[in-house]
Amino acid sequence: MTVLVTGGAGYIGSHTLVCLLDLGYEVVVYDNLVNSSVKALRRVEEITGKNLEFVEGDVTDSGALDDLFAKYSIDAVIHFAALKAVGESSQLPLQYYETNVYGSLCLLNAMKKAGVNHFVYSSSATVYGEVNPSPYVETMELGSPSSPYGASKVMVERILADAVRVNPKFRAISLRYFNPIGAHPSGLIGEDPLGVPNNLLPFITQVAVGVRGNLSVFGGDYPTADGTCVRDYLHVMDLAEGHVAAIDWLAEQSNFNGVEAFNLGTGTGVSVLEIIASFEAATCQKINFEIVERRAGDLPAFWANAEKADKVLNWQAKRSLSEMMEDAWRWQSKNPNGFS
Ligand code: NAD
Ligand code: UD1
Repeated sequence: MTVLVTGGAGYIGSHTLVCLLDLGYEVVVYDNLVNSSVKALRRVEEITGKNLEFVEGDVTDSGALDDLFAKYSIDAVIHFAALKAVGESSQLPLQYYETNVYGSLCLLNAMKKAGVNHFVYSSSATVYGEVNPSPYVETMELGSPSSPYGASKVMVERILADAVRVNPKFRAISLRYFNPIGAHPSGLIGEDPLGVPNNLLPFITQVAVGVRGNLSVFGGDYPTADGTCVRDYLHVMDLAEGHVAAIDWLAEQSNFNGVEAFNLGTGTGVSVLEIIASFEAATCQKINFEIVERRAGDLPAFWANAEKADKVLNWQAKRSLSEMMEDAWRWQSKNPNGFS
């Protein structure tokens, strides 16, 4: 089976490539490298001992997508390519909608023309918005996320619901990720944010490696056990395996026409202070931090109900919090400047 992976050079995409190649899938990566490096792809080849096809291009370029589907015989698509900085999306809403929504439309149209009918979409826990209580369950109504980034994820989920209705052969899965952290245990690939990291774990590992000074913990007065925000952190390799389970499930269904959403998380909430303590225990590195003002837009606590992915896809997040920390640290300490 040949899988087209858009955004495959990025953080989650590169880890998913490892799983796909290890299991014998052929992969074609399509990425414009706006937030990634071709070195990640070479490292994936080093880890797996397998070759992959790479085409540099933009998901908003319909002509290039048509050429891509004409050149390769694609069976299924995993669509990671997107812009993902929540704060930046409020400054650059049109750019975010163009890449995340229009780019997805271009891809879906190119798939339709080429007769490719299996689609796995990178969605996010952010689609549950501010109204739903945790644990989040797939049967909940989609919320109204305040950021253009979050709104773009909701929009594409809605587009998929309409797209499957008018094409009886089309089937899709939206994977709603919680908070992926960690790295491949080789330390050869990992998360490599541009500039100052927005997310917690890359900030912590950059403090530990000496690239940044103190960690600012955003808010110590939330209504949680220790006052800091609670999230559902999962290992990026568990998340990567969830994509293979999704691709396999789509291929196994005989008459399925529709879109299914799955939460990919551990089902357990962990606070910011617990993350710091767990990182320190797993790596023997001291993290200097101070508790500062809350960050605008942060919810106090959310985590997944991940039973549907277990029941239907036979997928569970298996790796422990300390493995997440050890692997994140191995990647950062071996690559203090990421891929550059
Ligand atoms: P990433 O930025 O590391 O990867 C995204 C990839 O898409 C990059 O390689 C980038 O170069 C590429 N890309 C961006 N715009 C493109 C365009 N116009 N054309 C072609 N390629 C383009 O991000 P990631 O963390 O790996 O996230 C992958 C997907 O998962 C995204 O859709 C993101 O919104 C979603 N997601 C991520 C998280 C997270 O915590 N990382 C959580 C929920 C959902
Ligand atoms: C953020 C996004 C979310 C996205 C997710 C994964 C916001 C409001 N939400 O979620 O849409 O799906 O990333 O990409 O940006 N923290 C600190 N100090 C830091 C960084 C983070 O204390 O320097 C705290 C945050 O307040 C939060 C927790 O750590 O409580 C996790 O933060 P982060 O990694 O940014 O993820 P989310 O906020 O859950």
